[in-house]
Amino acid sequence: MAPSLSLTKELLVFLGKSVLVLLESLLFTLILVPRKKVAGEIVLITGAGSGLGRLLALRFAHLGSVLVLWDISQEGNEETRKMAQEAGAAGAYAYTCDCSRKEDVYRVADQVKKEVGDVSILINNAGIVTGRKFLDCPDKLIEKSFDVNFKAHLWTYKAFLPAMIANDHGHLVCISSAAGLTGISGLADYCAGKFAAYGFAEAVLLETIANKQKGIKTTIVCPFFIKTGMFEGCASRFSYMLPILEPEYAVKKIVDAILKEQVYLYMPRFIYIMVFLKSFLPHKMGMLLAEFLGALNFMDGFTGPKKKD
Ligand SMILES: NC(=O)c1ccc[n+]([C@@H]2O[C@H](COP(=O)([O-])OP(=O)(O)OC[C@H]3O[C@@H](n4cnc5c(N)ncnc54)[C@H](O)[C@@H]3O)[C@@H](O)[C@H]2O)c1
Repeated sequence: MAPSLSLTKELLVFLGKSVLVLLESLLFTLILVPRKKVAGEIVLITGAGSGLGRLLALRFAHLGSVLVLWDISQEGNEETRKMAQEAGAAGAYAYTCDCSRKEDVYRVADQVKKEVGDVSILINNAGIVTGRKFLDCPDKLIEKSFDVNFKAHLWTYKAFLPAMIANDHGHLVCISSAAGLTGISGLADYCAGKFAAYGFAEAVLLETIANKQKGIKTTIVCPFFIKTGMFEGCASRFSYMLPILEPEYAVKKIVDAILKEQVYLYMPRFIYIMVFLKSFLPHKMGMLLAEFLGALNFMDGFTGPKKKD
């Protein structure tokens, strides 16, 4: 049966719009890349007491944002607050919050709303790695890993997304991982949390599009290893293809992606190729490639974050 007239019309509109958005992306990639202003925006960063979270705070401080810093470590977080203030933040507030605990997230979120205001950029960055093989990992640690790496994202969205929708203004940033795109041997609980965080962020993005909430943006970040100490001891077999990233480089790319309202950021670029290959290569071929790239042994040298003396 021939398609109905309305379906044909819909198809033509779809094709027309597709050409326009492709041209727009090409133009933005090649020539004009508008970046949004974030001075005065209230930026909440979880896991701000060290690593990427601290560097993200300093970048937004330079851009004149108001910073709301959450971490389970009061000491590290307070240090970041002072550094952010000195770096030019329009305001910097540190809150001790255990993001793995829903009650803590809701309690501290209420405090932030009263004391600072509506968060307009939410960066779910807090993360932990157990570094144990699945059957060697105690249930409690698996649950903690899932609570921090994924479930915290649910509760922070519940706390801050309604005001973003009411103001038709907000940006949700999910720090997932390359381990949120492909399974890694020795990282089962971590992969599960990072896949979940990715899927959740993408699904809510689609909800906001379906609801025509145009002011709500999403950025999902999937980096390979970064030299913050989290994956201390892990190595890359081919550092020109899969380099272990410098934290400053990773953070520059993340902030740039947020300012450009880019939805997906994978780094290094080879991760895009890896995802593409995974989508069509026969499984055995994919596994040969994974083995060749060292992906079956990434975690062999893992010693984990060094404890502070
Ligand atoms: N470092 C890497 O190689 C790498 C690669 C891909 C993705 N990531 C992700 O990037 C994010 C930042 O990692 P990082 O390398 O900066 O690690 P990091 O260990 O330096 O920082 C993580 C921060 O989260 C905080 N944190 C941990 N549990 C918490 C909790 N329950 N509540 C609140 N805060 C908590 C820690 O105190 C710490 O300050 C994480 O989500 C991580 O999974 C890291």
